[in-house]
Order: sequence, then C-alpha cells, then structure tokens
Amino acid sequence: MLLTLTDLERAASERLSAMAWGYYASGADDQITLADNIAAFQRVRLMPRVLVDVSQRAQNTTVLGRSIDLPVLVAPTAMQGLAHARGELATAEAAAHAGTVMVLSTFSNTPIESVAAAVPTWFQLYVYKDRGACKALVRRAEAAGCEALVVTVDAPLLGQRLADIRHGFHLPPELALPNLLDRSALMRSPDAGSALQRFVREMLDPSLSWKDLHWLRNNTALPVLVKGVLRPDDAARAMKAGCAGVIVSNHGGRQLDGAIAAVDALPAIADACEGEVYMDGGVRRGTDVVKALALGARAVLVGRPMLWGLAIEDPTRPLTILREELDRAMALCGAPTVADLTRDLVVHGAAPSRSHPRGRRPGRAAGAYRAED
Ligand code: FNR
Ligand code: LAC
Repeated sequence: MLLTLTDLERAASERLSAMAWGYYASGADDQITLADNIAAFQRVRLMPRVLVDVSQRAQNTTVLGRSIDLPVLVAPTAMQGLAHARGELATAEAAAHAGTVMVLSTFSNTPIESVAAAVPTWFQLYVYKDRGACKALVRRAEAAGCEALVVTVDAPLLGQRLADIRHGFHLPPELALPNLLDRSALMRSPDAGSALQRFVREMLDPSLSWKDLHWLRNNTALPVLVKGVLRPDDAARAMKAGCAGVIVSNHGGRQLDGAIAAVDALPAIADACEGEVYMDGGVRRGTDVVKALALGARAVLVGRPMLWGLAIEDPTRPLTILREELDRAMALCGAPTVADLTRDLVVHGAAPSRSHPRGRRPGRAAGAYRAED
C-alpha cells in the first residue's frame, strides 16, 4: 500500500530509468545537505496545545494575495517529461486539484502557456547570459498570465551530481524544452558526463548579481521572489531590491553540499525579512508543514514528491497525502487554522525540561525558537 510520500519514493524508484531516477534523486557531492534537509525536520519537535476545539479545521491561506486551499506549493523541477508522458501538465492539474499554485521551471518540457492555462502559475526564471532572451521569456510568462517570477539565485553553475556524470545525463531526443532558445547543448555529450552541467555552464550567467535583480524588477510588473536564499542578510537585501519575498532553499541539496538545511535557516530569515517567506527542501510529512509554518514560512514547496507521483502515474497522490497528514497534524497540535501555527508550537532538539539549566527563567524551553534566537 502506498500510504506515505516515502512509499511513493520507493515505488517511483522501481519505475524510472536509472538515468531519470539518478537525476531526480541525487544531491550534490556527498549528499550531506540532501540528507540534512530531512534530518533537520526530525530534530524539530512539536509542543502541542491541548483542549482546543479542533472540530472545524481549515488549511487555506494566501500567497502573494491569492487564496489557496493548502499551504503547500509545487516547487519548480526540470524535465518532468522524464517521469510522465504529460509531464508538467499532469503536475499542473494535480496542483489545480489541490487548490494550490505551481511554480514552473524554465527547463520544463511543457510550454509556459499550457501550464498557466491549467493552474495559477509562478514562473521560475533562470537568467541567461543573453539578456534579450531572458527578457523575451519574462514577456512570455507575463502574457501567459503567470502571477509571479521566481528567480533562482543558487545556481551560478550546476552542483556536481555524480549520478548524472556516471549516467551521461542528457535530454532524450523526444522531449522538447519549449521555453529554451537552444537545446542542443542538452543532448548527449560526446565525452559523456552531464549534459545539463554543460548546458548551464554555456547558457546561464554566473555573473548574476544584485544589480541584475534591480534590472529584472525594472523589467516586469510581476512580483519577484528570490529562490535559494539561506542567509538573513541576503533576505533583507532582496527586500531592499524591491522583491516580494524569498524562498529559503538549498535547491534540494543539489547545489552547495554542506549548506545549511533549509528548515534550520528558516527562523532567522523569517525574523529578518519583511516580505513573504517560503521554504523548500525535505518536506515529506504533514508535521513538516506544521513545523515550517510555525517557524515562519507562509507556505512550503515540494519538489521530488511531485515527481514520484508522476512516475507512478498518480500525480494527485502526493498533495492528497500531505493534505490529509497536515489536517491530522493540525488537529493534534491544537491548531485549527494556519494562523494558529505559531512558533511556540516548536522546540529544537531534546525535551525542554531536561535541557533546562537550574536558575533559568522558568516557562521557556531552553531549545525553543524565539524571535531573538
Ligand atoms: C530541482 N530544483 C529546481 N529549482 C529551480 O529553481 N529550477 C529548476 O529547474 C529545478 N529543477 C530541479 C529538478 C529536480 C529533479 C529537483 C529534484 C529539484 C529544486 C527544487 O525547486 C526544490 O528547491 C527542491 O526540489 C526542494 O527539495 P525537495 O522537496 O525535493 O526535497
Ligand atoms: C536542477 C536544475 C535544473 O536542479 O535546477 O537539476
């Protein structure tokens, strides 16, 4: 029986080719950050409230002013055609079914226009060296009705994913990349290795800096979110540059190995950032959603779990599982609405009473997260 996202992961691993599975699953280098995204959620513990009336519960919230039914968005992941014949379109329908927003990758196998017609869409932008091409992509996203731009800033070059190098990762010839100008660099490389790594090196701009964010802000009326922020000072700077918010993310452990787990980076950023703060990386349980929202995220995003749903031909399943788990977690936490998911619900590490040194102010858990932490 496929009851949990981990069950879906196992089933998906049996369905996909070694190349596709390796691409989806892997993190960079020793995959320390990949594992820590999960472990960090497990280090955060809940302090449930009791005797709260939870007979009526609601998971709705707003993101950039849009109402959604579930505080879980779909993270941008490239090349979903490797998992499902209808790729991003199947994901878009699953997101629409859950009443949430989909973030569409620049590297999608489906055109922006088809996805934006199926679901409220935020477009994830990779900034090309060719700024004219980048501007054209922004115009396309605007014309298609995308509601925000998500600029990914943690990939001036691609992290080293060993599985992709070993498998000679490349775009199968039958898959299109309709948001790109030139996909030729993504075809199998004569020297094997990862064609994606080569593509990113050739096409994306490693000189991207804060001034380019200002350039982008001046070239679109859409709200801009910055994805891949792990430091409070960078989050504050993004707001100064006129962005609407940030996505706290280490790219699912695929870029800098050894980077801090996303949920560990979240509370300090939530405290420092005036805008909307989102997070992704390692969300696998309804309780993870509770923890992230309690630590200051407006909503979370899920990446790989959506790919697992595609791979097993059941694209709605991941968000259905998360919705049910979140509902149960909120009830058991004494938090009937998203607004009730406040920081006092979480504590870091060991049980507070035992780690409480004598003579400390009573009533506060030693490891509890608080605004000044
Ligand atoms: C990604 N991610 C990503 N991010 C981005 O901004 N643009 C992209 O094209 C991609 N592509 C991509 C492909 C695959 C296969 C994966 C697994 C991830 C990163 C993604 O948006 C997100 O940050 C992580 O996937 C979140 O971690 P989880 O939910 O996968 O643990
Ligand atoms: C990845 C890029 C495409 O993580 O974002 O594979």
